[in-house]
Amino acid sequence: MAPDERIRAAREKAYATPLSQFHPGDPHLFQTNTIWPYFERLRNEEPVHFCTTSPVGSYWSVTKYSDIMYVDSNATMFSSEVSRGGIMLRDPEPQYKWPSFITMDEPLHGRQRKSVAPMFTPANLDKLAKSIRERSADVLDKLPRNETFNFVDLVSVELTTQMLAVLFDFPWEDRRKLTRWSDIATSLPKSGVFESEAERRAELMECSNYFARLWNERINADPKSDLISMMAHNDATRNMDRANLFGNIILLIVGGSDTTRNSMTGSVLALYESPNEFKKLRENSALIDSFVPEVIRWQTPIAHMRRTAVRDTELGGKCIKKGDRVVMWYVSGNRDSEVIENADSFIIDRALPRQHLSFGFGIHRCLGMRLAELQLKIVWDEILKRFNNIEVVGEPKRVYSNFVRGFETLPVKIN
Ligand code: HEM
Repeated sequence: MAPDERIRAAREKAYATPLSQFHPGDPHLFQTNTIWPYFERLRNEEPVHFCTTSPVGSYWSVTKYSDIMYVDSNATMFSSEVSRGGIMLRDPEPQYKWPSFITMDEPLHGRQRKSVAPMFTPANLDKLAKSIRERSADVLDKLPRNETFNFVDLVSVELTTQMLAVLFDFPWEDRRKLTRWSDIATSLPKSGVFESEAERRAELMECSNYFARLWNERINADPKSDLISMMAHNDATRNMDRANLFGNIILLIVGGSDTTRNSMTGSVLALYESPNEFKKLRENSALIDSFVPEVIRWQTPIAHMRRTAVRDTELGGKCIKKGDRVVMWYVSGNRDSEVIENADSFIIDRALPRQHLSFGFGIHRCLGMRLAELQLKIVWDEILKRFNNIEVVGEPKRVYSNFVRGFETLPVKIN
């Protein structure tokens, strides 16, 4: 089916399906990019919706901007604790219940978060900027010209994996292991990323052992400025058990790679689909400053975060029971036209480009957001210096996930 036809058919289906049958977390809807009419209906007709038809258990969907802000800012009512179910719609399986500070409530969350926060201060980002520019220039200079290549692999994955290796001071030649571990950690069983549970477990075990070795080296050495050493030499994290250490490592791997990677790829696709916006950017590179947050809104690389109700409560006129799953669909809130003007359009010179939910809100608001923006800003600075056009020459292949909104491939050509 041609893409336009597929979108039309999905729309008809979404409007013909009773709301009682809605399961907006179906990963297939994300992989085929046909989720939009479902969220549009929910925002208009039942903004807080209870799904009872999901194979992974029932859940509330929160789809409007202001309701999402309310839940995200109310961490004492809506918990992130891994023991209650964590931050993804699907409960973690018992063998994967690794506590990390994103799956903790206060006070532990705040203490552990602080241990790595110095990496993301404005002063430290200024220090990192020079090497980000050098690496971006190098990767772009090596790209083939007038020949189809996969932007995801040669640019987005390469640059974000290099960044992650710098943040961890991870052995450079092994850096692609970080990409693989990130994919393995976030992929659903039917995604095709791994063949069997045993394979997944073995690869995660390799990751755990690898980082345990780095940890032991760094805890016994003088403090340095990488993320592992920062945790090894901070009172709040120095004595973490192995599960907590691994949980935080996976959080930083996924946080630092998948998200920025998919924003980079999403930026190429968004500009290709909106040629007038690309023209504006080419003619005025100062627009990069508002283009970057607009891309992050448009792509919404993390589609949702989930919480668990700690007590019975009310939201949008619905009674939420203690223990219920509450899913904040950032991807839907970012298209809420009651708050964001022309929310369904990609506009690189918006008046309020930072008005979006992609980085969350409240105590868990993304720690790496300024670093993500910096990487995107620099790579686009360098792209505009070099290339007239990046042409998308085939359909993107999107990942099978309701959590990471991303791409496996995006075929492009540059001249
Ligand atoms: C465009 C890129 C990115 C997006 C869209 C993004 C999105 C998010 C979201 C939605 C959250 C949860 C917010 C909440 O629950 O309220 C989060 C948390 C987090 N992100 Fe990011 N992220 C990005 C880049 C990064 C980078 C580059 C890093 C750094 C390595 C990073 C590290 C983290 C960490 C450590 C947390 C947990 C914060 C906490 O629990 O206190 N993220 N991010």
